[in-house]
Amino acid sequence: MSDSLSKESFLAVVGLFESVSGIRLSEAKRPLVEGRLHKLAQRLGVRRLDDYVRQLLEQRDPAEIVRVVDKLTTNETYFFREPQHFEFLARLAEDHDGHEPFRVWSAASSSGEEAYSIAMLLAEKLGATGWEVIGTDLSTVMVETARRAVYPMERARHVPREYLKRHCLRGHGDQEGRLLISRSLRQNVRFDNANLMETLPALGSFDVIFLRNVLIYFDNPAKEAIVNRVAPLLKPQGYLFTGHAESLSNLATQLRPVRTAVYAR
Ligand SMILES: C[S@@+](CC[C@H](N)C(=O)[O-])C[C@H]1O[C@@H](n2cnc3c(N)ncnc32)[C@H](O)[C@@H]1O
Repeated sequence: MSDSLSKESFLAVVGLFESVSGIRLSEAKRPLVEGRLHKLAQRLGVRRLDDYVRQLLEQRDPAEIVRVVDKLTTNETYFFREPQHFEFLARLAEDHDGHEPFRVWSAASSSGEEAYSIAMLLAEKLGATGWEVIGTDLSTVMVETARRAVYPMERARHVPREYLKRHCLRGHGDQEGRLLISRSLRQNVRFDNANLMETLPALGSFDVIFLRNVLIYFDNPAKEAIVNRVAPLLKPQGYLFTGHAESLSNLATQLRPVRTAVYAR
């Protein structure tokens, strides 16, 4: 099987991916694109990558396009990533007056670790009810993974030991080496597909929105469009968290910086 894409095929895939996700892949991503498409081509028994791309563009099978988009998104995430945000969230939860449910949105939730980390913390601070976490992602495979709530044990290394005991179940038998997020936590967490580049579904309003490690993939006009689509879903006293490598400083938004990677309405 040939592993390389012609320039035309590469640009066609870049264009297709950009039209769905809004993310423009650079030439530097070519090896990654080729590696990931290779697996999809193999699955269909297509020998050459260029043939796979031609077939993809001719047939425009929505299910296959979803598979391509899923393969090309970068889903790296882990429990309690960027702990300063969780310290800040803990204080907000402690100060919450309890009149309305405390609601948090993980706006690019990947495989769910971010949403379940938020949920563990809220369960610790607020108890079993009175709060809700919603996770959304472009990738259907990631949304399904998040809903399953099963993770290899080694991914739990940043989860405090007490939280592990209280909020996770250790797998036995054929689930050995895995953990399952507890049912009581899962009852307050739901996951759906949502594309940040399109009109958002009706999600309600949020005390905190985690929009972390996703803006980095977009150019400034797209970043601005995303932030201005997401920010109106904050409650009046709400906060938006970005990844620590992501700044909104060059963007025209209604948000004001509060501290590193924390913004208020
Ligand atoms: C690197 S992960 C970040 C996960 C998590 N927020 C964190 O900080 O650990 C980026 C996620 O953004 C998602 N994504 C990329 N483009 C998107 C879009 N247009 N709309 C929604 N999600 C998108 C990807 O599918 C991926 O799961």
